[in-house]
Amino acid sequence: MSVQTENQPYEMLSIGSEAADQLFFEARSANSFSDEPVSEEVLEAIYETMKMGPTLMNNQPMRITWVKTTDARQKISETMAGTNAQKALSAPALAILSFDTEWHEEFEAFFPHAPERKAMFDDQGVRAAVGNNNAWLQAGYFIMAVRAVGLAAGPMGGFDSSAVDAIVNTDGRNKSFLIVNVGKPGDDAWFDRLPRHTAEFATRTI
Ligand SMILES: Cc1cc2nc3c(=O)[nH]c(=O)nc-3n(C[C@H](O)[C@H](O)[C@H](O)COP(=O)(O)O)c2cc1C
Repeated sequence: MSVQTENQPYEMLSIGSEAADQLFFEARSANSFSDEPVSEEVLEAIYETMKMGPTLMNNQPMRITWVKTTDARQKISETMAGTNAQKALSAPALAILSFDTEWHEEFEAFFPHAPERKAMFDDQGVRAAVGNNNAWLQAGYFIMAVRAVGLAAGPMGGFDSSAVDAIVNTDGRNKSFLIVNVGKPGDDAWFDRLPRHTAEFATRTI
């Protein structure tokens, strides 16, 4: 069997079972949200927490656009496929995650002990690949930070990124890659948990 859902090694974790449940075992991708607003302080706490996750040479290429007004959420929802629009409209806050294609411009600030290594990213193709990969890594930290403040995240890749960029990234520099609905879960927020690969299937030791 390659999939399994119930195997929770609480006794091996050095965080408490409550924290482990909140971050991993009971955390779910929400499909509907309550209309309870999410404060600016909470959004800031999410950023301050996620930003500590490691990235290549500390490059931190991800940028966040928080979308809270009804008008703005409506506009963004029109770029979405299928039921995603309805999910986005139900969430009190959306986070449009983008990556900065010119992230290397801050190199001296985020890697001050070896600024000469900025030259490794002179090539636009290398820079875009590294920026995109590390922004995705930060997106994972972002989802965990949403969970850490006690909210649910609903990540969605099903949207037209060019259309979103035409609304929020008009200077052409930042490129959207994921939208995450953020808030307290609403009615019938969860589908059944889908199976996860077993360790036997997905890992090996050499
Ligand atoms: C990168 C990414 C893109 C996703 N895109 C969508 C999407 O467009 N629409 C949607 O309803 N769910 C989307 N999901 C949600 C996944 O289907 C969900 O996270 C997965 O099935 C696990 O669900 P669980 O966290 O409740 O166990 C996406 C998740 C991720 C991480």
